[in-house]
Amino acid sequence: MNVLIVGNGGREYSIGLALKNDKFVKNIFFAPGNGATTKLGTNLDIKDYEKLADFCIENSINLTIVGPEQPLVDGIVDIFKQKNLTIYGPSKNAARLEGSKAFMKNFLKQFNIPTAKYIETSNYSEAENFIDSLDLPIVVKADGLCAGKGVIIAKTKDEAKQSAKEMLNGDMFGKSGERVVVEEFLDGYELSVFAICDGENYKILPAAQDHKRLLDNDEGPNTGGMGAYAPTPLINEELYKKIEDRVVKPTLKGMKEIESEFCGTLFIGLMIVKGEPIVLEYNVRFGDPECEVLMALLESSAYELFLKASTKQLDTLDIKFKDKFGLAVVVASKNYPYKNSPKAKITIDDKISTISDTHISFAGVEAEDGELYATGGRVLLVVSVSDDIKSAREKSYEALKFINFDGAQYRKDIAYQALKFHE
Ligand code: AMP
Ligand code: GLY
Repeated sequence: MNVLIVGNGGREYSIGLALKNDKFVKNIFFAPGNGATTKLGTNLDIKDYEKLADFCIENSINLTIVGPEQPLVDGIVDIFKQKNLTIYGPSKNAARLEGSKAFMKNFLKQFNIPTAKYIETSNYSEAENFIDSLDLPIVVKADGLCAGKGVIIAKTKDEAKQSAKEMLNGDMFGKSGERVVVEEFLDGYELSVFAICDGENYKILPAAQDHKRLLDNDEGPNTGGMGAYAPTPLINEELYKKIEDRVVKPTLKGMKEIESEFCGTLFIGLMIVKGEPIVLEYNVRFGDPECEVLMALLESSAYELFLKASTKQLDTLDIKFKDKFGLAVVVASKNYPYKNSPKAKITIDDKISTISDTHISFAGVEAEDGELYATGGRVLLVVSVSDDIKSAREKSYEALKFINFDGAQYRKDIAYQALKFHE
C-alpha cells in the first residue's frame, strides 16, 4: 500500500516511521516533509491541495494522513473526498472544533459538555461587562488559529480588558482576534487525551502529558511543546471513564447531529479540577510531541488504524499498545520560540545506537551534501521506550549526549510531575 503524509514536523516523521515498519505499507510520500523524511520515503513539493489529490490518483496512493491543523481547517479532506480518495482527518466543517474557539465553546454548551463559563463576542463592551463579573485571573482567547499563542491569562481586570480590546481591534492577532472568548480561569492540572475517531466509533489512546513552557519548572514562554510522555499516572480508569462518557461520546454524537461528523484525531485538552474533567479546548489532529510518543508505543498496525478510522471500520479494530512507557525530549534551536535561528550543522555520534529502544524523530531539519542542518524551531526529538518513565527518561537524556548542534536547547525535567507522583 502507498501512503501520503501531509506535514513537515516531528509528528509527521513519527507517523512515517511507524508506517515504515508496517507490513502493509510499501511506499511513503511526504508533502512537504523535511530534510530527514527522505530517509523514510519521498518528499513532494506540491502545495496546492487539488494538485496533491491528483498526484494521489495518478500514483495509486491508498491512504493520506494529515498531520497539522492548517490544511484541515483549509478543507484538504473535503477536496480529497470529492475525488474519492481515502484520507484520515476531519472535514473543514468538523475542523471548526479547532479552527474557531467561538464555535468550539458554543458546541460544548449546546451538547452539555463540561467547560469553563464563558462569553464569545466581537463586541468590546460585552467582553468588558463579562470581565467585570468574573473573579481573577481571567482568560482571554482569540477566536481563530494563532499557532498556540492566542491565549492570555490576565492577572488584573485591566489587563483582561486591554487584551480583549487589542484582539478585537486586530492589533494583537489580526483577523484571528475579530471574535474573542473570555472565560473563567480553571485551577487544576492539564491532561491531553487523544481519541482516534471514524465518525461514530473511537479508540482512546494512552493519556499523554506535554510540557508547553520553554524552560524547566514550567517557566519561560509558551511553545508548541518541549517534551511529552505517556501513559501518565495522572489518570486512572475512573477518570478515563468520565472523559469517555462526558466528553468523547457526546462530542461524536453532537458533531454528527450538526452534520459535521468527526473523523480523525480528536485531541481533548482537559483541565482536571477536583477529579472532574473540564474541556479547555479541542484540537483536530495529533499533538506534537505527544504523537511521537504514542507512535513509539503503538504495537498494532498504524496503517490499519488510520485506514479503518478513515473508512468507518474502527469497530472491527483491535488496537494494541506496548505495555511500556514512552518519553520524548524536544531539542529546539537557539532562538526558539522568539525568532529564527542561524542554520547549524547537526552531528550525531554513532554510539547513540548502543542505547536500546531509543530513536530520533526529526522536525526542523534540512539536508545538504549528505549532512543534516538544524533550520530553526523545534529541530528534533529523542524518543525512548522503556519499562518505566524513569528509565525512559534516562535513556533519552543519555542519547542527547551524542547529539550536537550550535544553540541546541532542551528541558532537563521532562516527566517531572509523573516522577514526583511516584515518590
Ligand atoms: P488553549 O489553547 O485554549 O488550550 O489554551 C492554552 C493554554 O492556556 C492551556 O493549555 C492552559 O494552560 C491555559 N488555559 C486555557 N484556558 C484556560 C482556563 N479557562 N483556565 C486555566 N488555564 C487555561
Ligand atoms: N503539543 C501540543 C500541540 O501540538 O498543540
